[in-house]
Amino acid sequence: MRDVFDAIQRTAIRIKDAIDVKDIGYSQLENSSGETQLQLDIQCDMIIEEEFSRVTSINTIASEEKEHEEVFRKDAKYFIAYDPLDGSSLVDVNLSVGSIFGIYENNFGAENMVAACYVVYGPRVEMVFAENKTKLYLLQAGEFEFVKEIRLNEKGKINAPGGTQQNWAPYHKEMVDSFFAEGYRLRYSGGMVPDLHQILLKGGGLFSYPGTSDKPEGKLRRLFEVFPFAFIYEKSGGGAVDGTKDLMTLGCAHIHDTAICFFGSNYEIARVKEVYARNS
Ligand code: F6P
Ligand code: MN
Repeated sequence: MRDVFDAIQRTAIRIKDAIDVKDIGYSQLENSSGETQLQLDIQCDMIIEEEFSRVTSINTIASEEKEHEEVFRKDAKYFIAYDPLDGSSLVDVNLSVGSIFGIYENNFGAENMVAACYVVYGPRVEMVFAENKTKLYLLQAGEFEFVKEIRLNEKGKINAPGGTQQNWAPYHKEMVDSFFAEGYRLRYSGGMVPDLHQILLKGGGLFSYPGTSDKPEGKLRRLFEVFPFAFIYEKSGGGAVDGTKDLMTLGCAHIHDTAICFFGSNYEIARVKEVYARNS
């Protein structure tokens, strides 16, 4: 695992540099979230592929940017699924973005996950790595330094509701509103990594991405986004559900499958389960 951890650190430093130097096309703004942005996504994907291809313990990779998985070494242990630049459309408005990694042993699937990690590229670069515990690292002078262990409180104050509100089910809207009625504050940037990072570091709250009338199975991808964060939230003392079931008990038929998902501290997750049990 040490070699994978080291490779992720190298990719993070290279991706940060790519974000910093990339010409995002200020002179051709009408194109900045289309073609130009796509190139940065692909550049980040290539950086990760290149670094991982040298790690002898990695068997297969799957990327949100690739249609199919890619096998490096048939006898090696780890299967890694990653989202190279999550929230990439936020780069051109200079909001935080991230990379997400799910580390699986012997095959992809929640039951095979042994570690998960994400990197936030914000004003500072931070990395969160969870194995048995969740640990926070900060990039300082070219190296990631351990900062602290992360533990969620039982209850938080942040509400981060994803998806198009117009397409929410009425009971979902009532649930979201019930948290606001209790004094929760809205904190939502549209980047999964910074939005979930904020809830983790501020001690708790709820991030939701429900099934909607236009996306009944949600938007976020199981292998690259949902399982890694579910693992991290569980290891941090919180919960992660699809409404009724723990996300880490779900299967994954295809590498790009999505899932409805809720991540939070225990108080908020209990509310989600209660509301969804009544309505499904
Ligand atoms: O990767 C998908 C993503 O960009 C996530 O980072 C983010 O949480 C989500 O989409 C935001 O979706 P929406 O704008 O529908 O709330
Ligand atoms: Mn993504």
